[in-house]
Amino acid sequence: MNIAAHTENNTKYIYLLGNLESEAEKKKFIVELYSNSKTEVILNQREVVDSFILTELSRVQRLGSMFNVKVKTESKLLCSYLNSFKINCINTSKAGFTKESEVVITSKNITKLMKFIHDKYHYDLHDYSEELLKRTTKRFMIMNGISTFNNLLLNLDDVELFMGYFNDFAISVTSLFRNEKTWKYVVDEVFPYLETFPQIRIWSAGCSTGEEPFSLAILLQEHGLLDKSIIYATDYNMANLTVAKNNAIPLSKLKDSVERYNICGERDLLDYFSINEEIATLRKDIFSKVQFFNHNLLTDSSFNEFHMVICKNVLIYFDKNAQVKVVELFNSSLHRGGYLVSSDSEEISLIDKGNFSKSHPLINVYRKNLRNPL
Ligand SMILES: C[S@@+](CC[C@H](N)C(=O)[O-])C[C@H]1O[C@@H](n2cnc3c(N)ncnc32)[C@H](O)[C@@H]1O
Repeated sequence: MNIAAHTENNTKYIYLLGNLESEAEKKKFIVELYSNSKTEVILNQREVVDSFILTELSRVQRLGSMFNVKVKTESKLLCSYLNSFKINCINTSKAGFTKESEVVITSKNITKLMKFIHDKYHYDLHDYSEELLKRTTKRFMIMNGISTFNNLLLNLDDVELFMGYFNDFAISVTSLFRNEKTWKYVVDEVFPYLETFPQIRIWSAGCSTGEEPFSLAILLQEHGLLDKSIIYATDYNMANLTVAKNNAIPLSKLKDSVERYNICGERDLLDYFSINEEIATLRKDIFSKVQFFNHNLLTDSSFNEFHMVICKNVLIYFDKNAQVKVVELFNSSLHRGGYLVSSDSEEISLIDKGNFSKSHPLINVYRKNLRNPL
């Protein structure tokens, strides 16, 4: 059983250890949740909860005057996930906050930090820009109440804290139909090429919480190409992949994307989702065409041959050498004549002009040349 409950001093405490799989567990949760006027739900999961729990927590908190339900978790990640669905959540982690002005990180600190991480955890962070390293480290220190660099090293000795730091590394911001003009170009110019294949393979590299491959799957469906497509969606951040696989998007995020969708899509975006309270779930037949995998662009190799690779808002975080390495990986992963799609703001200046041609002067979509040796 992933659920336990008891009552003390007129307060009902409900403990959830994971998602509720069986009907009996779900029934128990509902009964316990609505059986007392004062309740605390304590979530012991670290990452995300499924849409059943999301829906029930959202519903019971809206009935605020009848039921006073507090939701608590030690996981900051889970707390902000719940907040994005407008579920009020208290983060019970003991970490305090440090004032921004108290944290100073020098280039020397960063070099020392990279050596420490490399020696202890064997991760090589040399490929990330120093500015990103400083920003992420500073944010981590502020959020965890750490004010000195030596204290930071002591904290990062703890593997769980280290993983929190590491997962936070690359900014995970994403949204449905982000870079809508690029999507429009992909629909008009790249889809006719994709259509010529009996089976279409597409790689969404650095997919974050899934909005990028979901947008693509919706557009492919609209153009009758989804049935013969497989979208491989990868990211190195396991927490992002867990959120993506949960197929629960905050309704507010979906509503915000309608205008962007209308630039590249032709129907009513809401028809692709079922909506329950504050949660939007992508239709199963579309969602099932996206396969999620853990993959690190800097250390893992090519794993298939694709007709299109989409990598948007990822390369900007890498230094020049790493960018070259990743473009080489895409080159060896693309079918001849295949397309590499980047974002509006990321002209891949390092792209080897002999291997790729830019498809449009204003849109960052590149085509692998037919005489490319790879
Ligand atoms: C800003 S998000 C971009 C998401 C999406 N592509 C978009 O444009 O909306 C950057 C993503 O790149 C991922 N990322 C950063 N470094 C990576 C690496 N070395 N390998 C794979 N993914 C990486 C991050 O985890 C994050 O999800």
